[in-house]
Amino acid sequence: MRRIQTGRLIALLIMVAGISTAGVSLHGLIERTYALGGPDELDVPYVPTPESVVEKMLDMAAVTGSDLVYDLGCGDGRIVIAAAKERGARGVGIDLDPERIRESKENAREARVTDRVMFVRQDLYNTDLRDATVVTLYLLPSVNLEIRPKLFKELKPGTRVVSHDFDMGEWTADQIAEVDGSMVYFWVMPANVSGTWEWTMPGSTGKERFVLKIEQEFQNARGTLTAGSSEMPVRDVKISGDQVSFTVDQAAGGKAAGVRYEGRVNGDTIQGVIHNPDGQSEGKGWTARRDPSTVVPIDNSDEIPL
Ligand SMILES: C[S@@+](CC[C@H](N)C(=O)[O-])C[C@H]1O[C@@H](n2cnc3c(N)ncnc32)[C@H](O)[C@@H]1O
Repeated sequence: MRRIQTGRLIALLIMVAGISTAGVSLHGLIERTYALGGPDELDVPYVPTPESVVEKMLDMAAVTGSDLVYDLGCGDGRIVIAAAKERGARGVGIDLDPERIRESKENAREARVTDRVMFVRQDLYNTDLRDATVVTLYLLPSVNLEIRPKLFKELKPGTRVVSHDFDMGEWTADQIAEVDGSMVYFWVMPANVSGTWEWTMPGSTGKERFVLKIEQEFQNARGTLTAGSSEMPVRDVKISGDQVSFTVDQAAGGKAAGVRYEGRVNGDTIQGVIHNPDGQSEGKGWTARRDPSTVVPIDNSDEIPL
């Protein structure tokens, strides 16, 4: 069951409370929602994002001409159309309500961006998101949580996600802003670096074997690095898109000094550069490979039995 009725109701009430002050009548909102086939049809009622908030969402996601922006529940298409018209991006708007799709197409024609955008009447839960470089949302707290595992399964590391008014629970935002009384949350999809990684490097006694074990919670991680017989904690782990870095206090000349590892994650390979405590890389590279059986999904909350 993808829809949790009680959660939805609470979330809907939260949203209604929030928007009633913005002049949208509760009566009109519910009338519109139910007219479309009842509450089981739409997961979220139609409430447009104010233009100032649209701008902020596109700014935070740093949308450019090389982006493909997906708006899940696109309403009248305003986010996708603004991304195309003002930033030169391409866009896909998804909405279950045929009236919204008609409106979006009409608005795209008026804005002369029909060559850069498309609007599809489709359930956002059944939408393939793998091509997106930016995903925009104005849904509900419960719907954000329900689609979160899908975002982690389908979006490439580095894809930017921006949500009007609602967060993603334990997946804390990388940036939060407030504009004209609305909250905007921004995340960069982190690579999954969990599991056991190994590599070898020349050491004082020949080839030395390194084993890195990482546990990850969304964009945060901790772990250990074993070199020879000594196990050291890794600290200051940073994961941003496909970039990962961490520090290990490795023994050098009788004392521990922070060695910074930086790399790019590509599937089960990390390739990068090692910076010595003095900040110099000396061009020392490292290439680690992961045992694929050790990867833990970042978000499998959709698989937890109720
Ligand atoms: C709050 S509005 C946001 C509109 C637009 N994204 C904006 O920010 O201006 C939510 C939209 O989601 C659409 N919607 C609700 N449930 C949906 C679903 N399961 N699949 C696709 N669209 C859905 C509604 O029709 C509505 O247009």
